[in-house]
Amino acid sequence: MERIPSPRIMIRFLLLHCLILSFMIASANTTSITTDQQALLALKGHVTDDLAKKLARNWDTSSFVCNWTGITCDVRSQRVTALNISGLNLTGTIPSELGDLSSLQTLDLSFHWFSGSIPASIYNMSSLLSINFTNNTLFAELPPIFFF
Ligand SMILES: *[C@@H]1O[C@H](CO)[C@@H](O)[C@H](O)[C@H]1NC(C)=O
Ligand SMILES: *[C@@H]1O[C@H](CO)[C@@H](O)[C@H](O)[C@H]1NC(C)=O
Ligand SMILES: *[C@@H]1O[C@H](CO)[C@@H](O)[C@H](O)[C@H]1NC(C)=O
Ligand SMILES: *[C@@H]1O[C@H](CO)[C@@H](O)[C@H](O)[C@H]1NC(C)=O
Ligand SMILES: *[C@@H]1O[C@H](CO)[C@@H](O)[C@H](O)[C@H]1NC(C)=O
Ligand SMILES: *[C@@H]1O[C@H](CO)[C@@H](O)[C@H](O)[C@H]1NC(C)=O
Repeated sequence: MERIPSPRIMIRFLLLHCLILSFMIASANTTSITTDQQALLALKGHVTDDLAKKLARNWDTSSFVCNWTGITCDVRSQRVTALNISGLNLTGTIPSELGDLSSLQTLDLSFHWFSGSIPASIYNMSSLLSINFTNNTLFAELPPIFFF
């Protein structure tokens, strides 16, 4: 006959499950369109030269983030799915907060004067399908997984 675990062990087991479940719910709730907005404002904050004032004028909290230049959102989830600011001729660096755009599928930062390194947080963007950093002066090499 199988040994039946004691009620005490069973309760502990159930408590552990509840704990894990609440952690999962909490972490699922920690990212939202506000996270996306903060990540984009961080990127804006790292732009040191924006001669055409495209971001300076447009990426403003007085308007909805999904309406900003170069931003595409998923209508249903209301999360940023594409960031394409190709060719805006920006100078600056890329902040690690960019990796917080957890629903991002398309990232096009091509034809800029971005320098420095590509932050490691970018590997956290599990939804990313395409990335374009051509014609920047970034140091880090992307792993082969991004070239397909
Ligand atoms: C986004 O822009 C559209 C058209 O320009 C406008 O109708 C809409 O109200 C804006 N949405 C928000 C939330 O500001
Ligand atoms: C980004 O925008 C540029 C010009 O507006 C366009 O040529 C390019 O194809 C876009 N990138 C993506 C990934 O859609
Ligand atoms: C792009 O920026 C550089 C320096 O920041 C400037 O010399 C150049 O004229 C700009 N080009 C365009 C097309 O705006
Ligand atoms: C890279 O981008 C800069 C600014 O847009 C431009 O002046 C330069 O010609 C570009 N270089 C190449 C190889 O496309
Ligand atoms: C990746 O995401 C995890 C969980 O949010 C975080 O703890 C970690 O610091 C991130 N890694 C980088 C390199 O940002
Ligand atoms: C950057 O690369 C993506 C994917 O390869 C492509 O769709 C996009 O058009 C490129 N952007 C430009 C400005 O060429």
